[in-house]
Amino acid sequence: MRRSVFRVLTAVVFAALPLLSARAETPAPADLLQGVSWQYSRDGGKTFSDQPGEIGPKDAVLARAEFDSSDVPSPAWLELSHELPGSVQAAFQLNSQALKGPLEGMNYRTIPALDAGMLRKGRNVLEATLKAAKAKTPPPATVRASLRLMLPEHLRFQTAPVLGCVGADYFTVSCRTNLPAKVTIGHIRTSGAKVGMLSVDGESFGLIHRFRVKVNGADSYDYQLTAAAGNAARASASGRVVVPSPGKPLRFVALGDNRTNVKDWAQVASAARAAGGALTIHVGDMVTAGRNDWEWDEHFFAPAAELFAAAPLFPVIGNHEQNAPLYDAFFAVPEGIAETRSWAQQVGDVLLIGIDGRSDWSADSANARWLEAQLAGTKAKFIFLVSHYPAWTSSRHGGLDAEGKLKELATRQGQEVILPLLRKYRATAMIVGHDHGYERSEPPGGVSHIITGGAGAPLRDKTKDAEKQNPHSKVYAAKLHYCVFDVRDDRCEMKVFAPDGQLLDQRAWEARK
Ligand SMILES: [Fe+2]
Repeated sequence: MRRSVFRVLTAVVFAALPLLSARAETPAPADLLQGVSWQYSRDGGKTFSDQPGEIGPKDAVLARAEFDSSDVPSPAWLELSHELPGSVQAAFQLNSQALKGPLEGMNYRTIPALDAGMLRKGRNVLEATLKAAKAKTPPPATVRASLRLMLPEHLRFQTAPVLGCVGADYFTVSCRTNLPAKVTIGHIRTSGAKVGMLSVDGESFGLIHRFRVKVNGADSYDYQLTAAAGNAARASASGRVVVPSPGKPLRFVALGDNRTNVKDWAQVASAARAAGGALTIHVGDMVTAGRNDWEWDEHFFAPAAELFAAAPLFPVIGNHEQNAPLYDAFFAVPEGIAETRSWAQQVGDVLLIGIDGRSDWSADSANARWLEAQLAGTKAKFIFLVSHYPAWTSSRHGGLDAEGKLKELATRQGQEVILPLLRKYRATAMIVGHDHGYERSEPPGGVSHIITGGAGAPLRDKTKDAEKQNPHSKVYAAKLHYCVFDVRDDRCEMKVFAPDGQLLDQRAWEARK
């Protein structure tokens, strides 16, 4: 189902092409709007002025720019970028045709890969209907925009290769290109012997590319992506993926809630990369507003590009992802419940279960039945359940009402449904985020509860009701951090570090019996 959200924008015939490495020599794409003056109408296009004024709560301002175009080469695409503030909603039209982003439901500052066939030879009209997103703060309605003519030579990887879920016999990798392209993946054994191009599933035309590569027989694989459009080709950075298998030592990292403070996230991601985990668990809240397309590259992927190219990402969705279509289109997660974002997979000697903690986790729900089936059916030595939402917390999301009951449903269902199931099947720990910092709790029953929400979001102290909210708290640190888990034989050891190397906590568990 998720693969259907890939938008195939165009099909281009490709041949074997030399890689163009000297991007610095490529001329910048021409801006068709250079030197144009925008005109503004407040009466539906009857009269125009060069004074935009302000947009009030009920106004719609029509902005218009005219420009000339000559013959357009083929293949070519248009890329519209604007610098309107988030308080303005803008709908653009070129020669009366709506300019839409590739994924419905996402907000774009740059709309890539528009059909250049919309351009006319001679006079062209670009219009923008501007509305105030919120009534309270009427913004100035000036338009600053560019409309660039993109040729194959402007092809680039917009989002660096991001490794997704991995298992004993496969790995996954995703990327985004700025132009519709055919992307292929080359993978070789670490020994240097070529494995070849067989058994690669995934969409390969368009802007978002996701591959599942079946592998067999080696512990690690080098990989590199190649994108081709028209007469141009590009190679991505290369990376190495380690394929975990049962019985072998496994190191993985858990972190989350990196949103908002990008420099902090870069620091934590760099330290986590240096820890050398074979995979990364992310507990959600990767961006501040998941529907804003630009946040994903600027705030999440780019600052942690090296981590994502080396350590396969096992994410769960947080509230700040806003159910963004890009989340589903981009991330490769293990099989789970149809139509939900929950998944489960054994990695080495560990069963990892990731859940969408905002869906229905009442006791008789389909989700709870699915979770019990995963727990009952495993012989894994260790079980970790990953969710965005904590069950026990000394911070904001454990707030109690006047009667002492938990205010938030996800927290309540964590305590009343999810943790009891984990106890019943002797799971190791629940790993969550949502509250910003680190907290380890040890509620009765032997299942540890770890909040790792300290990868960049504003850090929070305990609430004044902390002891009442969470009597099981053992360690609390309102600090940037990441958690490193080492599984070896019948023991799993966790160490929690600040990015400067300070050890914040440690804990070890014995294998399930
Ligand atoms: Fe959150």
